[in-house]
Amino acid sequence: MDRIRSGIPGFDELIEGGIPVGSSVLVSGGSGTGKTIFCLQYIYEGAKQFMEPGLFVTLEGNIKNIGWNMQSFNWDIGKLQEKNLIKIYKLNLDILRRHTTAEEQIEKELEVIASMVKQIKAKRLVVDSTTALSVGTESRGTMRSTLYHFTNALKELDCTTLLSSETRGRRNDFSAFGVEEFVADGVIALYFSPPNRSVFVRKMRATNHSKNVHPFEITSKGIQINPRDKIMWEAIR
Ligand SMILES: Nc1ncnc2c1ncn2[C@@H]1O[C@H](COP(=O)(O)OP(=O)(O)O)[C@@H](O)[C@H]1O
Ligand SMILES: [Mg+2]
Repeated sequence: MDRIRSGIPGFDELIEGGIPVGSSVLVSGGSGTGKTIFCLQYIYEGAKQFMEPGLFVTLEGNIKNIGWNMQSFNWDIGKLQEKNLIKIYKLNLDILRRHTTAEEQIEKELEVIASMVKQIKAKRLVVDSTTALSVGTESRGTMRSTLYHFTNALKELDCTTLLSSETRGRRNDFSAFGVEEFVADGVIALYFSPPNRSVFVRKMRATNHSKNVHPFEITSKGIQINPRDKIMWEAIR
């Protein structure tokens, strides 16, 4: 089994050394649990440590957040961007545009993503967050099918993909709409029950993963997981 190392300190030990190559993995959690940092670090470490090109697709309203994260962790992404090892793409869904539907726009965006993956020969792909795709979609039903279509289409790209999903943050919430879990080969849940941050691998195909909840910190170097410590399930609120 070929695995791709996340490069996030302490994480790969929880999943037999890495994420199975080609899988799509959901990174779920409430607001502020560290999803964006986790995903960004996956792209950064991939480029920096393993020379693996990565594409980071952001749907967050505030693209400044990415720059802030880079600065606060001293991640010099500029050089890696020049070498085409990292590419950041802001996906804009213009919900006010009259003549195209959200679905048509998503179709176009999938083409853009595919061409960027090709251009930098991306091995790693992130979409942060899939929850934001729902903004312009009218009904929950169309939303679910759009999301299903989008995540499935990304699977054709031959990347190892992280998809973030913003939940209400309870311990049994693993996605915003339910479909994301359904298409994912893995689910990584992040929690923040003050003062503890923790991570739980809910699912990872073909992997004898840890069944414990592990504490992590966000430090000046980014996320650091302590794979030897555990947190009681009951301690997560
Ligand atoms: N340099 C840092 N040192 C420590 N904690 C940080 C640092 N930068 C961000 N954080 C923590 O990370 C949180 C944001 O994480 P983020 O990945 O954006 O969350 P999410 O995407 O899940 O909403 C902040 O609210 C803060 O608690
Ligand atoms: Mg985020």
